[in-house]
Amino acid sequence: MATNISRLTSLLLGTSLAATMASANGGELEKVMKARGLTENDVIHAAKTYTPSGGRDEFMIFSSGGQSGQIMVYGVPSMKILKYIGVFTPEPWQGYGYDEESKKVLREGNIRGREINWGDTHHPAISETNGVYDGKWLAINDKANPRIAILDLNDFETKQIVVNPVFKSDHGGAFFTPNSEYILEASQYAAPFDNNYHPIEEYKETYRGGITFWKFNDKIGRINQKKSFVLELPPYMQDLSDAGKGASNGWGFTNSFNSEMYTGGIEVGMPPFEAGCSRNDTDFLHVYNWKKLATLTKNKKNYKVINGIKVIPMSVAVANNALFLIPEPKSPHGVDVSPDGEYIVVCGKLDTHASVYKWSKIQKLIKDHKYAGKDPYGIPILSMKDSLHGQVELGLGPLHNQYGKHWKDGEIYTSLYVDSQIVKWDYKHLKVLDKVNVHYNVGHLCGMEGKSADPQGKYIISLNKLAIDRFDPVGPLHPQNHQLIDISGKKMDLLYDMAIPLGEPHQAVAIRMSKLHPEVRYKMGTNSRTGKISKGKTLAGQERVVRKGHNVTVYATLVRSHINPERVTVNKGDIVTFYLTNLERAEDETHGFTVDNYDVHASLEPGKTASVKFKADLEGVFPYYCTEFCSALHLEMMGYLMVKDP
Ligand code: CUA
Repeated sequence: MATNISRLTSLLLGTSLAATMASANGGELEKVMKARGLTENDVIHAAKTYTPSGGRDEFMIFSSGGQSGQIMVYGVPSMKILKYIGVFTPEPWQGYGYDEESKKVLREGNIRGREINWGDTHHPAISETNGVYDGKWLAINDKANPRIAILDLNDFETKQIVVNPVFKSDHGGAFFTPNSEYILEASQYAAPFDNNYHPIEEYKETYRGGITFWKFNDKIGRINQKKSFVLELPPYMQDLSDAGKGASNGWGFTNSFNSEMYTGGIEVGMPPFEAGCSRNDTDFLHVYNWKKLATLTKNKKNYKVINGIKVIPMSVAVANNALFLIPEPKSPHGVDVSPDGEYIVVCGKLDTHASVYKWSKIQKLIKDHKYAGKDPYGIPILSMKDSLHGQVELGLGPLHNQYGKHWKDGEIYTSLYVDSQIVKWDYKHLKVLDKVNVHYNVGHLCGMEGKSADPQGKYIISLNKLAIDRFDPVGPLHPQNHQLIDISGKKMDLLYDMAIPLGEPHQAVAIRMSKLHPEVRYKMGTNSRTGKISKGKTLAGQERVVRKGHNVTVYATLVRSHINPERVTVNKGDIVTFYLTNLERAEDETHGFTVDNYDVHASLEPGKTASVKFKADLEGVFPYYCTEFCSALHLEMMGYLMVKDP
């Protein structure tokens, strides 16, 4: 053991320090290892992830919160959870859905007048400049209620939700084009584009898939719905997508898994979806020219308007050489474009191979109009053989890919769902290099900027679907498991298990911490959801109560350690609005605000103005108070709402 320790110490500290350390700590490390049953390897792994008090991480991870409808933020390599951000779901700590400003954002996500208070978040994406993450904006999709949300990485708040007016579900979003011109969102389960009933027998005629190209203004960080458009596609059940970059900039790629156009096993003796959708050996990779499609929307004859959005029919896209299909192994998952845009790696989960397509080959077939055939909708099909660079047998259930720092030499990582492994391989020279076991059944994997034009290597996170026996039991619903893997050496090294208690985190995206520069305070009186100065901005000395008929508006300020005013008297039935301004300038001096029993809450970071509004329909005396422990006099930060029956 003693030799192990000195070898370990020399590993950790370098040989010159090792001898000093061994005598100075009086065998303390050895004692701790023994008491906790740690091996030498455990301690090395700990040292690779441990971040001392006040220490910082190298990368920030934005993970989908799955069915929580939120986003989870954590650091790598420490795996410290830093924040949950309310996106499609109310989140009380941030007042999201409990103050008026955030309610307005959340309610942009209403569908046909219906309030939706959850989301199935899948793929977060960071805005790009020249294919490289710029750290400005974050987009994420909701599969269940096809929507895209936009977050501002200046304050980590949700600013916009757009509802897809023609899709009924989406999966293949959100993906930015290389200069954040558009955000791609592919539909998943085919359905009629209109909102009417169409019998399933009309599947081939009226059920449709599609790609929505959401026009993004990266200056203000908002989607412009009027300038957005949809490409109509056959009901092949489109799936994951990726925008081309570099060599393939201007193009996009989307998988599908139902080239059979199977419609389910409702009749006796019909196979269920899982079998019906897998009869063909291949499905279709959709290849489309979004730059060309965007120019087509300038002429009215090229599109129809359905539910208020421009839809380009497939026939128009085909006539303009903007849409092609290439067979791909059946039931694919990831389609991942290489950093230079030259290779497109597709993994079919029912095929043990990864298929590496080469853009220059595809481009030549398109240029020469060399088609292997057409699909039932008249879309040209390119030969799979002639488009492929090659295939590699990776293992059982390959799903998704991330590129490594040495991507120019072919370094790539792929998740193997059935084998529960991450495989490192070479997509240029088509060979497997290494495999590491994970626990268990990995879906997506997250490299450090691993799908941008500038992958950083160092780590891969395995986003596992099952944790089974990895954590202390908390009932039949288990936490999820994100596993951190060191990929800096020749062999991959599994470092750390992180329990995720927030739904099934579908995919995560990583960015260098050095690219993020979030604010610590707002300009005084800011409505954080719009970025503009709130009409309710109130400075010290301006506090007041304004009555207009049944409307009572309170202009209040919060500063250590009082809420001003401290008493508000209204009549039962009045509509009460509290505008709340936090006058603090000190970092992290957030105050919260609630009125007991009225289901309202606001989080007021320094400089923010937010409002809560309610009908005072309960008679009585209701304390209001600050909900953040902000100072030694936090408990004294309170007041009374008196509701009397006139
Ligand atoms: Cu302000 Cu507690």
